[in-house]
This record gives sequence, C-alpha cells and structure tokens, in this order.
Amino acid sequence: MKLTNKIAIITGAGQGLGKFIALELAKEKVLTILVGRHIKTLTQTKKEILRLNGKADIFVADISKAKEFKWVNGVIKNFGLDILINNAGWSPPLKIVEKLTEKEIGDCFRINVFSMFYMLKKVIPHFKKINEGAIINISSRAGKNGYPRLALYSATKFAVEGLTQAVAKELEDTNVTCYSITPGALNTPMREKLFGDAKLKENPKFTAQVIVKLLRGDIDAKSGESIDPSHFHGL
Ligand SMILES: NC(=O)c1ccc[n+]([C@@H]2O[C@H](COP(=O)([O-])OP(=O)(O)OC[C@H]3O[C@@H](n4cnc5c(N)ncnc54)[C@H](OP(=O)(O)O)[C@@H]3O)[C@@H](O)[C@H]2O)c1
Repeated sequence: MKLTNKIAIITGAGQGLGKFIALELAKEKVLTILVGRHIKTLTQTKKEILRLNGKADIFVADISKAKEFKWVNGVIKNFGLDILINNAGWSPPLKIVEKLTEKEIGDCFRINVFSMFYMLKKVIPHFKKINEGAIINISSRAGKNGYPRLALYSATKFAVEGLTQAVAKELEDTNVTCYSITPGALNTPMREKLFGDAKLKENPKFTAQVIVKLLRGDIDAKSGESIDPSHFHGL
C-alpha cells in the first residue's frame, strides 16, 4: 500500500508500542487517529507528530466498551479510513490462574479481544466498500506459547491469533488484509509494570518499523499470517 495521505486508527497511541507505531506512520505522511483513555498522553503523541510535520487527531475512548465506538463512524465519514492498528492491550500483574479475579479475567478479555471485535464491526464494512484496507492486530509471543503466570494474557492473545486468521479468510476475495504481530519483550510501560525489566528489552520502535514495512508491502507475507518482528532484524 502506498502510505502517503492514508488514514490510520491506532488504539493505545498515548504510550508504548502504539505511540511508536503512530510516530512511524506519521513519518510516512499517514494521517493518524490516536485513541486511548488518557488525553494527556495522547496529546503528547500528537505534539511529537506535529513536530515531525505530521497530522494527527485524538479520540478519547475506553475501547473495552462497545458504546464508546460511535466516533468511528464519524472518522470514516469525514476522513475515510485505510489502516486499522488494534494495538491497545492490558495484563493484570503476573499470577497463577487460581489467583486471578473475576474482574481481571473480564477486563483482560474486554480490552485485548472484545475491543477488536467492536472495532472490526465498524471498520470492515467500510474496507469492503472501498475494496482496500489493512488491519494489524497486535498479538504477542504469548499468543503462540502459553507462559506461566501469564495464562490470562496468553489466552487473550491466542484469541487474537484465531480472530486474525478467521477475518483474513472472510476477506480473502477482497483487497483487505489482516495480520497479527507477535513481538517478544518490548521496552514499554506495560513490560516495566509486569516485570520491572523494560530497559533491558527491545526498543518498540523496531516493531513499529516492521509494521510500516509490512503495510508498504516490503515484507512478503500472506494475509492471515502472524508476523514475528524479530525475524526481520537486518531487513
Ligand atoms: N511490552 C511488551 O513486551 C509487549 C510484547 C508483546 C506484545 N505487546 C502488546 O503490544 C500492545 C501495546 O503494549 P505496550 O507494551 O505498549 O503497553 P502499554 O505501555 O501499557 O500501553 C498500552 C496502551 O493501551 C491503551 N489502553 C489500555 N486499555 C485501554 C482501554 N480500555 N481503552 C483504550 N486504550 C487502552 C493505553 O492507553 P490509555 O491508558 O490512555 O487508555 C496505552 O496507551 C499490547 O497489545 C500488548 O499486549 C507488548
């Protein structure tokens, strides 16, 4: 896809991986729609995009709630839409299954999985109509392997893998693509909160750059595939 002047929604764009994706897309002259619950961090991302001579708009929404997606119709009507980056995610603190609370189980599925369904229900009809579009679902290496004390997070990311494959098949007669991305450990606030070791981990900028290459068509991958950014060092 030629990225100049394309429109992208990026959830969780106020910090961590989502912020890097927004910045890398802005460098490619993509108009970025920044989504999250906190206006302060979203505004900071927007400021950095403007400093790059990029364009950005902000929508404050809790994507775990279906009723907070009405703005998506307005974005499609007023700007159009070419790219959806389902990035926002959450994990409770590391703990074994029997210690998880009912609220944590619900919240983790609502934020990591239900939100993707809510977004896709809004966006896919538009992509089908224009017969173009790219969907990137941020999964995790924990969406390929189960890890102890990460069972809940892992289960939600396995769900993202199934969702990605099924959606790609539903769209196979169109020019709309759907990929999942399965990063390992990234230096972000989430990682810092969970393990306290973020500074030793990979810079999320590299994952963001792999996503841009994938969107540009510089990576040979079939819709429905999951992409492990670590395979693209040196590309
Ligand atoms: N860090 C890693 O090692 C790693 C590895 C593999 C995959 N991932 C995945 O990468 C993605 C980004 O993770 P990260 O490490 O950058 O996490 P992060 O630093 O905690 O950032 C998460 C982002 O998601 C947003 N978010 C969370 N709940 C939300 C909600 N209910 N509504 C709207 N936005 C919400 C947050 O914004 P607000 O607080 O403003 O809402 C925040 O911007 C996630 O899907 C994560 O599972 C991370």
